[in-house]
Amino acid sequence: MKFLGIDVGTGGSRALVIDAAGRITSSATVEHVPFASPYTGWAEQDPRDWWRASTLAIREVLSKEKTEEIGAVGLSGQMHGSVLLDKRDEVLRPSIIWCDQRTDSQCGSLTKEIGAERLIELTCNPALTGFTLPKMLWVRECEPQLWREVHAVLLPKDYVRLRLSGDKATDVADASGTLLFDVAERKWSEEMLSATEIDLRLLPRVYESPEVTGVLSKAGAEATGLRAGTPMVAGGGDQAAGAIGMGIVRSGTVSATIGTSGVVFAASDKPSLDPKGRVHTFCHAVPGRWHVMGVTQGAGLSLRWFRDQFGAGIQVGGDSYDRLTEEAAHAPAGSDGLLWAPYLMGERTPHLDPHARAALVGLTASHTRAHVVRAILEGVAFSLRDAFEIFKELNLPVEEVRLGGGGARSRLWRQIQADIYGREVKTVAAEEGAAYGAALLAGVAAGAWPSVDAACDAVVRIASTIEPDTESVNLLDRQYQKFVKIYPGMRQIMR
Ligand code: XUL
Repeated sequence: MKFLGIDVGTGGSRALVIDAAGRITSSATVEHVPFASPYTGWAEQDPRDWWRASTLAIREVLSKEKTEEIGAVGLSGQMHGSVLLDKRDEVLRPSIIWCDQRTDSQCGSLTKEIGAERLIELTCNPALTGFTLPKMLWVRECEPQLWREVHAVLLPKDYVRLRLSGDKATDVADASGTLLFDVAERKWSEEMLSATEIDLRLLPRVYESPEVTGVLSKAGAEATGLRAGTPMVAGGGDQAAGAIGMGIVRSGTVSATIGTSGVVFAASDKPSLDPKGRVHTFCHAVPGRWHVMGVTQGAGLSLRWFRDQFGAGIQVGGDSYDRLTEEAAHAPAGSDGLLWAPYLMGERTPHLDPHARAALVGLTASHTRAHVVRAILEGVAFSLRDAFEIFKELNLPVEEVRLGGGGARSRLWRQIQADIYGREVKTVAAEEGAAYGAALLAGVAAGAWPSVDAACDAVVRIASTIEPDTESVNLLDRQYQKFVKIYPGMRQIMR
């Protein structure tokens, strides 16, 4: 039997098939239309484009597989987005996605009305602009006519689930990022719903990640080529699912993943809280476990933005990032004093500030493009180090660090991370992101492994270990001490 994992990401949708030993037998990615940002800080995508890309990616992998061998389908996807549907399940407006920053005023009102401490007690998290509830409140306030038509609110991957199986369902990890979820009790929060006058009937049913939520419908089968009746598994928000794929299931093993956003992720046996709300506390995709994560909004996004805006002469496509990082390797560690603060879409950890702005600090006429690219790679890692510093403050154990995402694929970025975190870091074989974790969760639901832990123990393997370079560690530590001063210095200018 084989298992299909689907990741509805920001840049594209990925479909991936694994066999019962966890080996990848085929995969395909289809790009999305890039998110629209009609106003500063806005980010919107059309859910129907995710569906288009997902069906194409599924069809592509099925062209290399025997459809009847696919025993279950698991889903993962970008978190926090709001998909608003009318009573015929038609999309009412573009989804306001995870990095959108327009809801500052709604977050302010929520915090004032419910109380900052009470919000953390109820949901384990503060009101953050990217979360789903503030987006729903924004639509209710700013587009009241449209809001009256809303019959259902789904998270991004769950819109794809609806089209595949007809079910409105989600998983505990993704639900955790809505601010409507009682993360400690793993259920929708009645108090949050009543405080915000949101009808529970708008929300999907919640499942643990390795549970079956329904089966492929006839329409879903026709659109994708999958077999009607194939079990659909809850899966997880992209960070939790990605963590499963990297074996981050028990406390002590931590991942640092650089995708569009950057995330430092640790599993825990209880919902560990940051009283200041700088890191998120969400349910893990492992039943009975939680996770803590620090998020930097503009990680891989920083490099993509640079490539798109200033990468003239660098071919856009698969290896354009390799060209950029090869160029960056010509600049020395510390980029001769140049610093990048990666706040292109505001920032979550540690500043929780949608008004934070990016900055390139310390430019001189001797700096080259190589210095700028290297400063970007270093700045993203400094920003992830901020999360490691908070983990230290919260006494969260960090015994082993595994790298994931695009940041793990570049040799230079791996070394920069080892040097900036000041510790040995590892990569895992088959680091295939959230789609791989979703496929493993489908396998657990279908009985290929008795538990998520067992699946990870059976399939996740360490591929390489990168040691920090002592000289660079010291130099980059001095740079980090300067980096942490950029945001407080810029705050006055940006407000
Ligand atoms: C996690 C987060 C991102 C998005 C996009 O909190 O916002 O990881 O899910 O990948």
